[in-house]
Amino acid sequence: MDSIRIIGGNPLYGTIPISGAKNAALPLMIASLLTPETLTLQNLPRLADVSLLVRILGNHGVDYTIAGKKPGDSSIAGQTVHLKARNIVDTLAPYDLVSKMRASFWVLAPLVARMGEAKVSLPGGCAIGTRPVDLLLMALEKLGAEISIEAGYVIAKARGGLRGAEITFPKVTVGGTHVALMAATLARGHTLIQNAAREPEVTDLAQCLVKMGAKIHGIGTSTLEIEGVASLNGAVHSVLPDRIEAGTYACAVAMAGGDVMLEGAQVDALRSALDVLEQTGAVVTPTNEGIRIARNGAGISAVDVTTQPFPGFPTDLQAQFMALMTKAKGQSRITETIFENRFMHVQELARLGAQIKLDGDAAIVDGVRRLQGAPVMATDLRASVSLVIAALAAEGETSVSRVYHLDRGFEHLEAKLAGCGANVTRVSQAG
Ligand code: EPZ
Repeated sequence: MDSIRIIGGNPLYGTIPISGAKNAALPLMIASLLTPETLTLQNLPRLADVSLLVRILGNHGVDYTIAGKKPGDSSIAGQTVHLKARNIVDTLAPYDLVSKMRASFWVLAPLVARMGEAKVSLPGGCAIGTRPVDLLLMALEKLGAEISIEAGYVIAKARGGLRGAEITFPKVTVGGTHVALMAATLARGHTLIQNAAREPEVTDLAQCLVKMGAKIHGIGTSTLEIEGVASLNGAVHSVLPDRIEAGTYACAVAMAGGDVMLEGAQVDALRSALDVLEQTGAVVTPTNEGIRIARNGAGISAVDVTTQPFPGFPTDLQAQFMALMTKAKGQSRITETIFENRFMHVQELARLGAQIKLDGDAAIVDGVRRLQGAPVMATDLRASVSLVIAALAAEGETSVSRVYHLDRGFEHLEAKLAGCGANVTRVSQAG
């Protein structure tokens, strides 16, 4: 199994191109099930999750072609994938696939909307918490699907088709909003989604659905209105830049020092995190090219953060920000309100010398003057990358194992960091 070896101490200087967003790419690919025509997605990141989802969609009968690279294309440029679900040959999504990637559970929505039935394995728990799907099922039930659960599978039936309804989410859910939105596009009549997630990835999906012929109002707000249509058409859509990847490298620069242009990063998608990074002492400059982030030798100020749904501070940057706070001057309190168990990185950061205490849904980080390299591993992708960030500012060598977590969500991580002067290499190990 591969590991990533980092020798800390180098500041970062240069340009990091930001890839297409994983968490937009996945629902966009799933939306291809809604139409018999071709959905062309550009700027798809080269990630293990994307490849796995292509395979899962293939099982349902989606034909796909991945456009080859043209001479002169950068190896870092996103890929273009054509997805065509002319005939859905199977409405079953089995456990062995859904358990590998939670987001694949969302196929339930387009399958029941278009085919009138679907059988999809419950995804099960994961490293960041229990992650129930009750709100996703509630949304489909409101739209007229009959839901039953048998032997670990959700069976959704809507033989006469789905019908528009009012759906009010008691808490903000990204997956719930994706599911409700996709299903409502093909439901008869009017759907109102209240307390919808406003994450940029939801907006990206809604904009793609509109290109496919869906009628959606209120995009980008917490109230979405959908007028169902009988069928959707193909479209061409470019996946938005990954705000979490951009925020991760911003934390890395704030940690290691230096001056880096995050090419293609969008300020509006990352405002709360950028505000916090400025409070820590980093200099953030939005430009036409992207976001420039710099920190000189002045040290890192401690700042408290609380994760919130968008536009608040994202849970997907909590671990990376915690890594930064391990070397801050003073104490910071990091409160996680989205997932109950998203502190798996705390123990591993401690192996590098971090001083962190857990207090219910909060972590209290006392900044230390020095971190020291050590072998570490993590159980989810954001936790893994937080260890990489800490290692960039640690003395000596850190090796981060279980690299497959990083490969699920960060395209060309070592190349992007090494391109800015970090001493980062991938070490392949047999077995
Ligand atoms: C998405 O997960 C993202 N995944 C997560 O990114 C991200 O952390 C999360 O949104 C929050 O922003 C993808 O987009 C593929 P939720 P999702 O439904 O949709 C509770 C990463 O590292 N809830 O918004 O599964 C849930 O337990 C990943 O890239 C219910 O109670 O998250 C949580 O407390 C990890 N019942 C809260 O809502 C439900 O039916 C928000 O979860 C659904 C969710």
